[in-house]
Order: sequence, then structure tokens, then C-alpha cells
Amino acid sequence: MDPLYAKLADEFTVSAARGVLRAGDRLPSIREASQSRGVSITTVKRAYQLLESRGVVEARPNAGYFVRPRAAARLALHPPEVVTPADDDGDVGRFVLDTLRSIASTNALPLASPYPDPALLPWRRVRQHVTEIGRRYPAWSATDDLPPGDPELIHQIALQHLRAGLDVDPKEIVVTGGATEAINLCLQAVAEPGDTVAVESPLFYVMRQAIDRMRMRAVEVPTDPETGIAVDALRDLARRQRIDACVTMPNFQNPMGFVAGDDAKRALVELAEAQDMPLIENGVYNPLHFGEKPPSTLKSFDRSGIVLHCSSFSKTLTAATRVGWAIPGRYRKRVENLKVLSALGTSAIMQMAIARYLAQDNWEHHLRGMRHLLAQRMAIMRASLLRFLPEGTRVSDPQGGFLLWVQLPDHLDSLALYKAALEAAITVAPGRLFSNGNLSRNCIRLNCSYPWTNRVESGIRQLGRIAARL
Ligand SMILES: Cc1ncc(COP(=O)(O)O)c(C=O)c1O
Repeated sequence: MDPLYAKLADEFTVSAARGVLRAGDRLPSIREASQSRGVSITTVKRAYQLLESRGVVEARPNAGYFVRPRAAARLALHPPEVVTPADDDGDVGRFVLDTLRSIASTNALPLASPYPDPALLPWRRVRQHVTEIGRRYPAWSATDDLPPGDPELIHQIALQHLRAGLDVDPKEIVVTGGATEAINLCLQAVAEPGDTVAVESPLFYVMRQAIDRMRMRAVEVPTDPETGIAVDALRDLARRQRIDACVTMPNFQNPMGFVAGDDAKRALVELAEAQDMPLIENGVYNPLHFGEKPPSTLKSFDRSGIVLHCSSFSKTLTAATRVGWAIPGRYRKRVENLKVLSALGTSAIMQMAIARYLAQDNWEHHLRGMRHLLAQRMAIMRASLLRFLPEGTRVSDPQGGFLLWVQLPDHLDSLALYKAALEAAITVAPGRLFSNGNLSRNCIRLNCSYPWTNRVESGIRQLGRIAARL
């Protein structure tokens, strides 16, 4: 249980992050806060001191505590690069594996992880369903796993999409081994080796690597850190050269965290239709929105089946079962065929366990709690990063998910930071994982889904000291 003063400090941190408290606003006096909240003077004092140490407020002598300006909210734009398949893509693959292993096998602080704090996920319930299903169906054959997937799971996936505003025909859904397989299959279904694929820059390594792995050519499109891929720039590019597909993540993008606006999404789908350029959309973080409503999807603007939507339960339920799905539009048949060739099927036991969870447990309630905690943890982590990392550091300000993109001062090499941090038992995801080029050199991505403990706070302070030394 968090002490009372930390809870109070968290509340004010979130209010400042959401703009309810603005720069220059005075916090209630210690006496006022103590009376209105029904807590002791000492509790309020300690909460305000904590807020000061997080850099959220400053104390002004004889005047009180005032909210500090939100430093450096805007990320700098990454200029685009044309990136050919990396000669060293094997090395990047190895590097990804090493980074993930360092999170799994050491006692290090898992700030490099792309998965949420496991304590946030209802694994105990999912596990009970796995056991129950194992008991009920004593004999299994690989043919039970064949695509498109378990009908009840497919029904539940369609239902979840419907609740989030996307009307999907269940017949279009193909269950996959996580979003990773969905993205790989969809890309393979729409493009061939040597083809050109437009991508956001920077972009999550699974999506980049799918392109490299299939010997396609990635072309980076200018991407605004707050609004996403520049559709006009992509249109110009498509006029000059053939773009065979586009891989994009319009919501809570990994790593930058932006959400593209509805107009931009609509324009992107229209461009895709005009150019016959399939759009592979990654929506794994969509249910983790901090605002009231889930963000719209490219798929919801798609009338011709040119959008291939990919997602999974890895961020919201469990990554351990490796269950994801594709909604591949007009490419459904090809994706299904490729699925058989790639892995035959996806474990039916795991599919049925998740289907049962979705049907019987309170999934919405779980998500609501998770969103609330993530919003809180992100606000605290963000404020602390701006305080402890070197002057000139910029930090993204996502409205969903649990990843922060940190742009360190230009001279800083994130690979050096990654190595030095690892020696201090802190894992961070260096920019090199998100761009084959040089442009994310000074950036790191951090996971903020873990509770704000002394260990996390001292890890962030230490990261600041290492960065300052470098
Ligand atoms: C943007 C994004 N896409 C895909 C994945 C992989 O998801 P899955 O575990 O479902 O394969 C992750 C997480 O690692 C992610 O962050």
C-alpha cells in the first residue's frame, strides 16, 4: 500500500500532467489541503516535498507551492531517411534478443521492456481457464489449432472491436501467434522481396525487422512526434516512386506515443486506395487509452479492404499465451494460407482460455483499472525524467499505453547509455532499435508501467547521473 503522502503527491502529479493544474497555479495551502482531504499537516507537507523533488512544483518563500512549467513537452522531429535493408539486420535481431534477454534473465530494472508490469495483468484468471480447458479436453491434435482460429475467440475479438467502435466481420479475423506473427504474415501477403515499404520514423523494431527480414526496402516518411505520419509527404513520395505497402501505427505509436487525428487517418486510407498501397496497421495499445473514448482505427475508415489491422492480447491480458490476430481485409485468404505455412496454427488451448476469460470475467473493469494506473505511473515517471535527466532532454507525452520516448541532448549516444546502464542493472531500449539510420541515436524508450518504488526512483536518478557523465 502506498503511504498517504505518496498517494496525495500522485494525485497532484496526474492533475498537472493532465493540465487541470497549469504552470504557475498555486497548490492549496498546507492547511487547506489538510482540511479538505482530511489528512494531517505532516502528510500534506511530505506530499508537497515529494512533488518538489519530482520537479512538478516549486516552493516560493512565504508564498506557497506553485506548479512548474511543463518542460520540453514537444519532441523534436526526426528528419526522414531512405533506409535500405540493413547489412547488419542479423546484428539488430541479435541486439533485440539480447535486450529482451537482459530484461528476462537479470535482476535489472526492466525499463527496456515493451510489455506491461505483469502484476497489472490478470494472469491468475487466465491460468485457471487454461487448467480448466486442459481438464475438459484431454486429447488434442495439431489440427485443432488450424486457422482461422477458435470460433468463440473470434466472436469475442469481433465483440471487443465493436465495443471500441469498429464493426468487423468475424469471418475476416485470423488468429495468429501474437501481433508479431500478424505483422509478418500481413507484410508477406501484400509485398515481395525488393518491394518498397513506407514506414514511420522511428518505428517499433518488430515492424522494421519484418521488412528487413523479407528483404524489402524501407522508406521513412516524415513523422510528427505528436500527430504521426505526414500524409502529404507520403503522397508526394508515392507520386515519385512506387510504394508497395505502408506499415504504420496510428495510435499510441511505439516508440513516440502519438495518436494521429481522424482526418489524417481518413486521408491515409484514401491515399492507400488511390495508390493501391496496402496499409498494415498495428493497434496493440488501442485499449489502453487514458481518455474516455478509444481512438479510431484506420480500419474503421476502410471501405475496400486495403487495411490489414494487427493486434494482440500481449499488452492487456497476457503475452505468455502468444495470441494475437489479423483483420486482413481483401488479403484474408493469403494471410490464412501463410499462417498454415508459417506455424500451422496457434495453440487452441490458449485461444479457448482467452475466449473464456473474455466471456466470463470482467474485462472492461480490468482495463479501466489498468488505464488509470498507467496514466498515473506515466505522469510520475515523466515528471521525474524531466527532473533527473540532463538539461535539454525532451520526453513524449502520450495519452495511452505505457512507453515514453526520451530525446536526450544531441551529443549523447544512447548505445553508450544502454551499455553503462546495463552495468548498473538498468535496462533501457536504445534508439538504434527503432531506426536503421542514425537519427534516433540520442533517444531511448522507457517502460513506465511499474509502480513508483524507491528502486525505480533511484534507477532514474542513476540514469541521470550516467547520462550526465557521458
Ligand atoms: C508496437 C508493438 N507491436 C507488436 C508487439 C509484439 O506483440 P506480441 O507480443 O503480440 O507479438 C509489441 C510488443 O512487444 C509492440 O509494442
